[in-house]
Amino acid sequence: MEINGIRFKKYFKEYEWSNVFAMLKNNRRNPLICKDDFKGKLVVISGATSGIGYVVAKKYASMGANLICINRNQQKSKDLQQEIEKEYKVECNYILADLSSLKEVHRVANTLLEIPIPIDVLIHNAGVFLTKRELTSDGIEKVFMVQYLSSFIINYILKDKFKKQQKAKIILVNSEGHRFAAWGLRLDDLYWSKRKYSGLKSYGSAKLAQLLAMLCFSEYFNDSGVTINAMHPGAVKTDTGHENGKLYKWYKKNILDKTLKPSSISAEAIYYLGVSKDVETLSGKFFNLTTLETPAPPALDLEVAKLLWGISIKLGKLN
Ligand SMILES: NC(=O)c1ccc[n+]([C@@H]2O[C@H](COP(=O)([O-])OP(=O)(O)OC[C@H]3O[C@@H](n4cnc5c(N)ncnc54)[C@H](OP(=O)(O)O)[C@@H]3O)[C@@H](O)[C@H]2O)c1
Repeated sequence: MEINGIRFKKYFKEYEWSNVFAMLKNNRRNPLICKDDFKGKLVVISGATSGIGYVVAKKYASMGANLICINRNQQKSKDLQQEIEKEYKVECNYILADLSSLKEVHRVANTLLEIPIPIDVLIHNAGVFLTKRELTSDGIEKVFMVQYLSSFIINYILKDKFKKQQKAKIILVNSEGHRFAAWGLRLDDLYWSKRKYSGLKSYGSAKLAQLLAMLCFSEYFNDSGVTINAMHPGAVKTDTGHENGKLYKWYKKNILDKTLKPSSISAEAIYYLGVSKDVETLSGKFFNLTTLETPAPPALDLEVAKLLWGISIKLGKLN
């Protein structure tokens, strides 16, 4: 194991063109559709106030599920609750939390831990894309915190509850963007203080970290009835990147958005992965929408995953 985590030679040998072509082909596919209902089940989803989270929340509610949404904006949460409860006659509760704060993430996890009924599906969806490096009030690089560490902390605190339930699905809304971290995760510089920051690279690294932690959680849940899987939700039109400057916003509106698909495909895929019997026993896998796909080699490195696990427990103040 190299000291700074760069395993260029190892990964270079592991890259296969066939996997890249498969990804390009999968990017053109539509998701499989699950028509089974989800009446009376409980679904927890983060970031349900816009984009993918919003349409996913509506999809599950339309199929009869009750929801707990983890959102940071009170007004948007109230509006969502009213809209969903009126339209679908299910319960839609919310927990307000800024997932860039360690304290708030711990509070969310402990609140979920106390729910006396099973959580059937937990969807980690909230995310940010930042073109400039930002640190949180805890001194953690923000994209790493929101995209990765918050989901790690919540899963870690809930892991025994899930095991006791003997049935649950955790879905990580990940991304093909994990491939931007092509030469692996720099465990010695997770907060980008030693290297030049780039939006794509920090995003890719955070998504890669989430895939690595998934390997360990999947091992932990082995044969327990609990599954954890990651997925790419398609390249879809949402509010992503709205925290960035004018130039990025112009590019997103006038160029990027014109190439993107509707977020309804993400909603169908995330519903299928949470409900369909066809994927009931699969765990530790990466899907492009609903197609099983091999992620980039650094995302399959169990040695780095185990090191990251230990680091994340410390960074997440879980010991
Ligand atoms: N769009 C795509 O093409 C695409 C592709 C691959 C992966 N993804 C992934 O899909 C997920 C959803 O993204 P999206 O495209 O739907 O973006 P979005 O429209 O910007 O939605 C992001 C959601 O996360 C919430 N959020 C952001 N920072 C938060 C924080 N600190 N605490 C709590 N909630 C926070 C936002 O809340 P507010 O409403 O308050 O802003 C919003 O509800 C992300 O994980 C993203 O990386 C998206």
